Amino acid sequence: MQGIAASARKAGQVIALVPTMGYLHAGHASLMREGRRRGDLLVVSIFVNPTQFGVGEDFAAYPRDLQRDMQVAAEAGVDIIFAPKAPDIYPSGYQTYLDVEQLTLPLCGAKRPGHFRGVTTVVTKLFNIVMPQLALFGKKDFQQLAAIRRMTADLNMPVEIVGMPIVREADGLAMSSRNAYLTTAERATALCLSRGLRAARLAYQAGETKVTALRENVMAIIGAEKAVAIEYVEFRQQHSLVEVAHAASDTLLALAVKIGNTRLIDNCVLGEEN
Ligand code: PAF
Repeated sequence: MQGIAASARKAGQVIALVPTMGYLHAGHASLMREGRRRGDLLVVSIFVNPTQFGVGEDFAAYPRDLQRDMQVAAEAGVDIIFAPKAPDIYPSGYQTYLDVEQLTLPLCGAKRPGHFRGVTTVVTKLFNIVMPQLALFGKKDFQQLAAIRRMTADLNMPVEIVGMPIVREADGLAMSSRNAYLTTAERATALCLSRGLRAARLAYQAGETKVTALRENVMAIIGAEKAVAIEYVEFRQQHSLVEVAHAASDTLLALAVKIGNTRLIDNCVLGEEN
């Protein structure tokens, strides 16, 4: 992969990378389309990265279907699928990890210790292997995107990070490979996330800025669902991820819940449409 990337760069090509863990869906397809538009060589990596899963999390169960992924990627005009095996990325003796500090402490970082260390480490390795000039990530993993932006800036990585809007099903459910875990009843329950976000956004747009009041709006919707265990409902400044008491147009509302064994996240920025 490094050899191909070096030749492409020598020929003056722009390499666009879409890093994924596979089980590709319409959210990934939107990243690939944008990558296709902006890059000469479009690379999609498919790697279920073991270091970003904690003990007892769903690494073994994470859905995998390389044949289907290859079809989705081909339809999106991908040039190269880079699908390494775990020992290619973490050979025996591997011992180097990368940490983004404050940004990864709250939210998912608090619930999934070590998760972002695994993410930023593997993304750094992918950048070194694929040598892209730009890399595309979805905004559903908002904290991941913030940490990757910080990391590239802090370490002077010559990669433009492109954040792409959340893609939703027609009924509002945010696209996620983990949606495959949901039963029909759980999937119906999961719609409370997008309903909660919408309610808060509408309340904000109607003039409510007190976070305590906006949170009550969300809790009235999500908290009413018996099958939902809430991990967090938080209002934070979208770039620093610092908690806010008064909402503004750049306030991120971030949600994480468990429905049965499935952990789902979703978010919106109050002043934005998506
Ligand atoms: O968002 C994901 O799918 C993963 O966290 C990523 C960025 C591919 C790293 O493994």
